[in-house]
Amino acid sequence: MGLRVVQWATGGVGIAAIKGVLEHPDLELAGCWVHSAEKAGKDVGEIIDGPGAEPLGVTATNSIDDILALDADAVVYAPLLPNPDEVAALLRSGKNVVTPVGWIYPSERQAAPLKAAALEGNATLHGTGIAPGGISEKFPLMFSVMSTGVTFVRAEEFSDLRTYEAPDVVRHVMGFGEVPDKALSGPMQKLLDGGFIQAVQMCVDKIGFRAEPKIRSSQEIAVATAPIPSPIGEIEPGQVAGRKFHWEALVDNEPVVRITVNWLMGEDNLDPAWTFGPEGQRYEIEVRGNPDISVCIKGFQSEVGGQGPEYGVVGTAAHCVNSIPAVCAAAPGIATYLDLPLISGKAAPQLG
Ligand SMILES: NC(=O)c1ccc[n+]([C@@H]2O[C@H](COP(=O)([O-])OP(=O)(O)OC[C@H]3O[C@@H](n4cnc5c(N)ncnc54)[C@H](OP(=O)(O)O)[C@@H]3O)[C@@H](O)[C@H]2O)c1
Repeated sequence: MGLRVVQWATGGVGIAAIKGVLEHPDLELAGCWVHSAEKAGKDVGEIIDGPGAEPLGVTATNSIDDILALDADAVVYAPLLPNPDEVAALLRSGKNVVTPVGWIYPSERQAAPLKAAALEGNATLHGTGIAPGGISEKFPLMFSVMSTGVTFVRAEEFSDLRTYEAPDVVRHVMGFGEVPDKALSGPMQKLLDGGFIQAVQMCVDKIGFRAEPKIRSSQEIAVATAPIPSPIGEIEPGQVAGRKFHWEALVDNEPVVRITVNWLMGEDNLDPAWTFGPEGQRYEIEVRGNPDISVCIKGFQSEVGGQGPEYGVVGTAAHCVNSIPAVCAAAPGIATYLDLPLISGKAAPQLG
């Protein structure tokens, strides 16, 4: 008998997390919450693999009360938008929560309500993911262990947004295809600030930089110079076709920690003429110290026109799933990467 896991929401992350739980030697699927009415009442096997799939014997519900009443050790909480009241109820019911939607390194003020719920339920909340939550802070900290006298760390994403199949999000939330003023004043900066400021702060605190308390956020925009075909239709000249966001911690006005996101609708017909460079889509990590280190991570971004899932989403789910045993064993409250032991992937069933 493994640890009993509930999957909360079955979007890209949720489906990959269920598959990850089924492959993990120490976990079993105990329940599943779905948002969509049409998925409620279905066997989870059908939800992840379609009609005719092998039943898993676990029925999806859209009732939080069903989940609260369930005997389970942990919940992978992956809805579209976080609802802190739901997370508090799950924690109070004694379930550990692992999530890619926030709480990577909350300040005491941000953590207080959910910490109280976790202590009441003798449970633990852990925020993780890919970026923020992994490549943006855990990995820079891990690589910095091979360097002394650290002067700067950087994590940077280079992604082609043409593979992102969420047209409403890309246009209305991310601001692609809009005029620059509308994109600049849209919700994206604030939405991203929440997680990435926590990621920068974790690096500052753990490495011990005497950084200014305010993390600096900034952004840049590229516009199309000719029509660019994209999943949201043609992006016309003058409309937003590339965005960069930066978060920096400063010492004496010089950055010591920087996270950057580069999102481009391809590399042609952009002003400024941004490209990914010869290394293409990737994540990069840099540590400057003795010695300087740089790492390029490939495999999480899909190729434009390629088949298969979005591997960054699968990686996000895996990070959540592989963390469950350590989160269940952690002291009640909020556990960050700084509190948990080294976590790894687990052997495939035929090799374990
Ligand atoms: N930190 C990271 O690195 C990272 C990486 C990837 C994703 N994320 C976050 O993880 C979450 C899940 O991502 P995803 O790619 O799985 O998203 P997704 O494919 O859009 O799926 C989200 C799921 O949420 C449910 N849902 C839809 N509308 C909802 C609503 N109004 N309220 C509550 N739930 C609703 C649906 O579940 P059902 O289909 O079950 O009805 C939907 O499938 C998002 O918040 C995303 O931002 C974080």
